[in-house]
Amino acid sequence: MSATENFNSKITIYVIVCWILAASGGLMFGYDIGISGGVTAMDDFLIEFFPKVHERKLHAKENNYCKYDNQYLQLFTSSLYLAAIFASFVASKVCTKFGRKPTILVASSFFLAGAALSAGAKKIWMLIVGRILLGMGVGFGNEAVPLFLSEIAPVKYRGAVNILFQLLVTVGILIANIVNYLTSMVHPYGWRISLGLAGVPACILFIGSIVITETPTSLIERGKDVAGKKILKQIRGVEDVDAEFEQIKFASDIASQVKHPFKELMKLSSMPQLIISVMLQVFQQFTGINAIMFYSPVLFQTVGFKNDASLLSAVITGIVNVLSTLVSIVLVDKAGRRKLLLQACVQMFISQVIIGAILQSQLQTTGSLGKTSAILVVVFVCVFVMAFAWSWGPLGWLIPSEIFPLETRTAGFAFAVSSNMFFTFLIAQVFLSMLCHMRAGIFFFFAAWILFMGFFALFLLPETKNVPIDVMLERVWKQHRIWRRFMVDADEGNKNSGANVA
Ligand code: BGC
Repeated sequence: MSATENFNSKITIYVIVCWILAASGGLMFGYDIGISGGVTAMDDFLIEFFPKVHERKLHAKENNYCKYDNQYLQLFTSSLYLAAIFASFVASKVCTKFGRKPTILVASSFFLAGAALSAGAKKIWMLIVGRILLGMGVGFGNEAVPLFLSEIAPVKYRGAVNILFQLLVTVGILIANIVNYLTSMVHPYGWRISLGLAGVPACILFIGSIVITETPTSLIERGKDVAGKKILKQIRGVEDVDAEFEQIKFASDIASQVKHPFKELMKLSSMPQLIISVMLQVFQQFTGINAIMFYSPVLFQTVGFKNDASLLSAVITGIVNVLSTLVSIVLVDKAGRRKLLLQACVQMFISQVIIGAILQSQLQTTGSLGKTSAILVVVFVCVFVMAFAWSWGPLGWLIPSEIFPLETRTAGFAFAVSSNMFFTFLIAQVFLSMLCHMRAGIFFFFAAWILFMGFFALFLLPETKNVPIDVMLERVWKQHRIWRRFMVDADEGNKNSGANVA
């Protein structure tokens, strides 16, 4: 280990408060993910905005797999992600130019406006515009929060701290599921409460964004060295922060020579990080996780549960999701990233195949599953969610936030966020139609992707645990047996080694 790993640091209360407040961006994101599935399963909501879907639901005898297949209904869920795709690129600029803190402030303002508009919606366009505003919030929040967390965390705990974001995503999903379960009993406006309560995490984030500190990296990057050092001392709780300060300064001097980070990102030497960041998002979404997170109440109704039993099952999967994310926090900096990802592939593959097999053999177009089979489906959904939650869920955000050098960090991460949003959008938009056409086959489709991503992780993903964020190039990319071939232009006028400092 070099001196870089031994920077002085204590975990200060101040930092803990910053982490918690910033991570409530995850709470907001999770709440948005979790809330729409339950709302779209509520009769009052359907009667008001989607009467045709409601009609079809009442006469569901016609086809189990297709009762919710409606492009507009899916657009309600997915418009958020569409907006977030664009927002994350704008957010990347704001993040570099003005810092992480103001970006989080903008995010929370969008969230507040979006929650208010969707809760008060009278017309379908108000609902959709509300979702778009929330999407802008997600784009800004998901760009700035994970970066913020990674940049103020001491190296040793970077993985665990970053996963705080994902932990709060899962808590947000769980809260949304519980809220939906309760509001589904409030007629006829329970869904308004569900959508409006998104204002609560938005407020926490808003207040948080005023209280938290800017990251030293962002200050130094913008030439505010004195303030950067002061904050560094404050968050590390020690006076001697020279070594760490020098390393950030070194990385940011290089970054400042790069005038066009997006152009820089297109260089051969940025490809490994870019490919990995984008593929992690494709894979994360093609595990099928959001088919479950968005539509589990609908899915559980499809296999024959009644309305509240299916909302309750969604609560159960939500709890499993939160608890398993805790496992990841404990293991990520010990076992490392790769082991978690690979183990989870095996577990997720088996679960998707079993769910597919049960539905294939037992769920006909009409009628419902027997009780035992329906319960087995819920159990394997939980086994699946468990594996996702300690691996591809959190690591899909952690890895892209730590593998780019400073000069391309926000731009590279913006690609990760927007590709995540794009593939989330895709799943949200087409899952119900795919379920209608492919029926149980959709679970085998996801299983095939899981197999593929396992091989990708095995051969192409380097381990990044315990590597300081600003020396990844030397320690990881230039050492990897495949990716080092891409590093030929890494030194041209852009010597981001950090090894000199190490
Ligand atoms: C993913 C979301 C998913 C959530 C589930 C996140 O990492 O990005 O799409 O819904 O995990 O917990």
